[in-house]
Amino acid sequence: MTTTPLAIGIHDLAVATASSVVELDDLAARAGIDPAKFRIGLGQEQMSVPGQDEDIVTMGAAAAQRILDRHGADGIRTVFFATETGIDQSRAAGVHVHELLGLPRSVRVVELKQACYAATAAMQAAAGLIARNPEERVLVIASDVARYDLDSAAEPTQGAGAVAFLVSADPALAVLEPIGGLYTAEIDDFWRPNDSVTAVVDGKLSVSAYIDGFTGAWDDFRARGGVDVTEIDRFCHHQPFTKMAVKAHRALAEHTGVELAPELVALTTGYNRRIGNSYTASLYIALAALLDGAGGNDDDLTGARIGMFSYGSGSVSEFFTLVVQPGYRAATRGDETAALLDARSRVDVDSYRELHALAHRDSTVDVEIAPDSPGEFHFTGITGRARRYSRG
Ligand code: CAA
Repeated sequence: MTTTPLAIGIHDLAVATASSVVELDDLAARAGIDPAKFRIGLGQEQMSVPGQDEDIVTMGAAAAQRILDRHGADGIRTVFFATETGIDQSRAAGVHVHELLGLPRSVRVVELKQACYAATAAMQAAAGLIARNPEERVLVIASDVARYDLDSAAEPTQGAGAVAFLVSADPALAVLEPIGGLYTAEIDDFWRPNDSVTAVVDGKLSVSAYIDGFTGAWDDFRARGGVDVTEIDRFCHHQPFTKMAVKAHRALAEHTGVELAPELVALTTGYNRRIGNSYTASLYIALAALLDGAGGNDDDLTGARIGMFSYGSGSVSEFFTLVVQPGYRAATRGDETAALLDARSRVDVDSYRELHALAHRDSTVDVEIAPDSPGEFHFTGITGRARRYSRG
């Protein structure tokens, strides 16, 4: 007797970001750079910037709250929190989110780290848990603040954002197909030492390492029986800046010798152009943009196979595929995400630079921070060397 494999995948996906935004035209004007370099050369228009009462916990909680509002917490026994911007060397940031959201005690919470890749590791681990017990659902939260040095070439590729997604059996949005391709290579392209709030990056090397990771993961995907490139209908990439996805798409066409239309990737960039890099969240924000039709595209994607490329510098790469489910549109959140992007307050370059300087907090100095961002969750300061949060 044969049994049908259990369909496991993404049941719901919510995006969150910080409440302030910098126009890259303003940054270009300040630096005396042609704004077209950022808009066209990098494919970026804006970058979200956290206020002093916002961080990975507040953004992650905001995204996760919307998932719980729709589905409740029944069946959730695991929360995976993926981030590059860890706030503590020991405690998972997700434990703060667990408390803020009032999740049941009978839940395990773990943080995963591998630069921008960890949300994909979380999704695969979640699929394994659900294969063992299809009644369970796993809440994955990916939340990051991309911070580079002021006045560096990487500065316009900063940003801040989070996603929360529910992994379950019989998902409403997209089924995860079983074959994935992997590629790991130790490389000094981007990392963040424990004593630094900004990343160390070799920009040019990072771009070529990303492409090598992509083609390497693709080759492994094919060697394991993954579908031909012509059987993939859309491509979503990790987007440190959206032009990177375009470069990777071209590289895959060259690598496979198959012409790939630019539209297959262009429809995934609508949110990331406005949020900036959100590290672990970026690939899933690209997926949200595609499913929401945020690129102004109204195609029905039912049954479409989406190629997903996840890259974490250092480096770990994974290529896998999702298949969009019938009725997915009823589960998308385009209006909600558009509203939260539009609601951000524009800050000028001087104010952004002041916020950038606040990123480093000495944990030995108690500080109280008055909630001033409009969101529901706030970082309220440090007491007794621990970060404190509030809701409401
Ligand atoms: N009009 C239009 N385009 C222009 C222009 C103008 N006036 N002036 C320049 N450009 C174009 C350039 O031709 C170039 O395009 P191509 O790449 O297509 O050739 C593009 O703008 C960028 O310009 P530069 O090559 O001069 O690059 P830069 O010195 O400004 O640095 C960068 C770009 C290396 C990406 C830098 O922003 C950086 O270090 N960013 C952080 C690292 C990063 O994001 N790496 C991506 C891969 S690693 C990863 O994915 C993990 C992660 O999240 C960090």
